Amino acid sequence: MIENFHYNDNSLFLDSINLNDLAEQFGTPLIAISENRIKNNYNRIYNAFSRHFKNLRVNYALKANSNPAVISILRKAGCGADVANPNEAEIAMYSGISPENIMMTGNNLSLTDLKRAIEMRVNINLDDINQMNLIENDLPELLSFRINPGYGNGQFDGIKTAGPNSKFGMPVDYAIKAYKKAMEHGVKRFGIHMMAGSNNLDPEYFHKLSKIFFNDVKTINKETGINFDFIDIGGGFGVPYSNENELNVEKTAELINNSFHEIIGDLNPDAEIIIEPGRYLVADSGIALATVTDIKNYGRLIAGTDLGMNILIRPALYGAVHQIVCVNKHGDPEYKYDITGQICENTDFIGKNIDLPEISIGDILGIMNAGAYVSSMSSNYNSLSRAAEVLISDDGFHMIRRRETIHDMINNTIIPGHLL
Ligand SMILES: Cc1ncc(COP(=O)(O)O)c(C=O)c1O
Repeated sequence: MIENFHYNDNSLFLDSINLNDLAEQFGTPLIAISENRIKNNYNRIYNAFSRHFKNLRVNYALKANSNPAVISILRKAGCGADVANPNEAEIAMYSGISPENIMMTGNNLSLTDLKRAIEMRVNINLDDINQMNLIENDLPELLSFRINPGYGNGQFDGIKTAGPNSKFGMPVDYAIKAYKKAMEHGVKRFGIHMMAGSNNLDPEYFHKLSKIFFNDVKTINKETGINFDFIDIGGGFGVPYSNENELNVEKTAELINNSFHEIIGDLNPDAEIIIEPGRYLVADSGIALATVTDIKNYGRLIAGTDLGMNILIRPALYGAVHQIVCVNKHGDPEYKYDITGQICENTDFIGKNIDLPEISIGDILGIMNAGAYVSSMSSNYNSLSRAAEVLISDDGFHMIRRRETIHDMINNTIIPGHLL
């Protein structure tokens, strides 16, 4: 279990807070996040990379968790932001990150989106040459392009974001054309970017990927004469969801640094190196709490809860596995349960064959690694509220997202007059 979590008798604590008490006070579904864990995760990855790269920027990938309180912790620690669109850019700015520290890497953005980004003065990283054509008379002085290095990996196919089947970025020969055209249109300074997949735990993968990417950078250096202001190697740094080993970030940074110096160090001596971790910074800081609302035992044990795939979609979407524990019982895990929610889909399983002590209606379950890609991917399907969120800090706990009401859900809908 992650070091910030521990049992005291039968109660699971996150840092100094009894999670049963939180569930009782705020109700469930509830996501509790540890501020200290986020800070420690940031320090670990920052220290590993800054040892090698003196000119380093860590841009937190907001898509992992876009709660402004979470973003503010990372902003105070020193992060900029990686955002996918102007809305995420607005949330980053609302959370105190200044536009020059925001990188917008979009995919299929509209002209309106791109114009908003230009107006906001955030850094723009374009995913395709046609995206540049849309704004060719309005290009900023500093521009970047996303390369598809032709290789990438992720824990599931859905989170591989490079390689032949990916919809992201452009191959190096198209990128060369894009950079040349941008120069013709007066762009003065350049960056380059890749993001090849999420939740990778092997330093050797990052070594191989960085070699391929830096060779692409070298080709572009040679073909265009560009000396890059920044080189953004994306995120993808993984966390264990079950019994895997942790990613060795020191080794990862060392290997990436080796390929940098071997391949392009002398061509881009002053380039800022950017990393864009999302999951690594926040995933293991969070636990999602659910109340058991039913137990079926017709040949197999199904524990029904108030937390379904509208809140945690990853198991239904990718077959992701999250560790699940009982928050108010620390007995031997003698039983196997399928854990489900209230959604009218048979994909609504939060976990299958989960080892737990005997549980009953009213018990509280805790779903680990709920700090990343849980709240930010949740929905109101079946008109259910998303989870409320609480931040655990040194001075106690703070509500950071109120539970949605039925009014929040119908507020933007209109019944035309003739139907009243
Ligand atoms: C452009 C970009 N940067 C960063 C990330 C963050 O990835 P991760 O959470 O795996 O670090 C993603 C995730 O898909 C992304 O698309």
